[in-house]
Amino acid sequence: MDITNIKIIAEKEIAQAVTLEELETLRIKYLGKKSQLSKVLSGLGKLSQQERPLVGKAANECKIIIQSLLEEKVSAFKINSAESGVDITLPGIRKELGKEHIISTVLKDISDVFVKMGFCVVQGPEIETEFNNFTGLNIPLDHPSRESFDTFYIKTEKNRERLLLRSHTSPVQIRVMRENKPPLAVVVPGKVYRPDAVDASHSFMFHQVEGFLVDKNIKFSDLKGMLQKFAVEFFGSQIKMRFRPHFFPFTEPSAEADISCIICQGRGCSVCGRKGWLEILGAGMIHPNVFKHVGYKQGAYSGFAFGMGVERIAMLKYGINDIRLFFENDKRFLKQF
Ligand code: PHE
Repeated sequence: MDITNIKIIAEKEIAQAVTLEELETLRIKYLGKKSQLSKVLSGLGKLSQQERPLVGKAANECKIIIQSLLEEKVSAFKINSAESGVDITLPGIRKELGKEHIISTVLKDISDVFVKMGFCVVQGPEIETEFNNFTGLNIPLDHPSRESFDTFYIKTEKNRERLLLRSHTSPVQIRVMRENKPPLAVVVPGKVYRPDAVDASHSFMFHQVEGFLVDKNIKFSDLKGMLQKFAVEFFGSQIKMRFRPHFFPFTEPSAEADISCIICQGRGCSVCGRKGWLEILGAGMIHPNVFKHVGYKQGAYSGFAFGMGVERIAMLKYGINDIRLFFENDKRFLKQF
């Protein structure tokens, strides 16, 4: 076999080799003592004076090329193969793409309905002052929700205002109204905290969307109309809404709003407790004392506010029966949405 052929075949075989063992066999085959190249080199003496330099040069060049091809491939193998403990024949580890958490999606979907009506989105801090969370909202000192079992208080230096983890998003009403004059139309999505024992419907942390609108001559009918519109946009056109009288210290009058049960369409089932209605939010006309606390002139403005629990709404919309599923981070659950 002539030298050019040796080179061509060696190149091909080296390219096809997939293990270090195969490369070692090829090294012996092409560069070892019994290889054809070695035989050519050791037989140079028998050649004529004219042939000797030509054949010698070609054989040496061929040897150098095969040597470097082998070295290159061996070192590439060593970097990413058995030598470094990695088996490159194993299938790769697929990088999974993450996705938005279902609670973030619902939070945005709720806010978006109001953004389309002209509301803007404002976020407040999760650590709040006692004033913004309670006093400014007309929640008196002796109100039961002030007690520590309803609120996580934060150790605060003496003579400093007490801080806490906000127990609702309503303190953002105070923050926004103190800094801005009406007209205001604001939605506030965010986390809230309450020291509740965790069970299928309670969590020490959950999410709320607050909304409020302040201007001249805002009426309860404006509140009803906007929330009704929200219910239809969010749950579908067949949804009915009703308002029941309720009490919140920061609204007067106050109401709770129910939607017709989305499981049984109001006929009565286990989800709605045979009532046909599901409570989804608290609302009312902003109390005059709240306006007083933020420095608005008495009687100058009127407005409404509402607040809803996002987990509860997500559970109703997607038929989820345990709030803990949202926070356990089991991908099999989260992947479904
Ligand atoms: N902040 C109230 C709650 O957490 C909900 C609410 C907001 C009620 C605004 C009325 C007006 O229960």
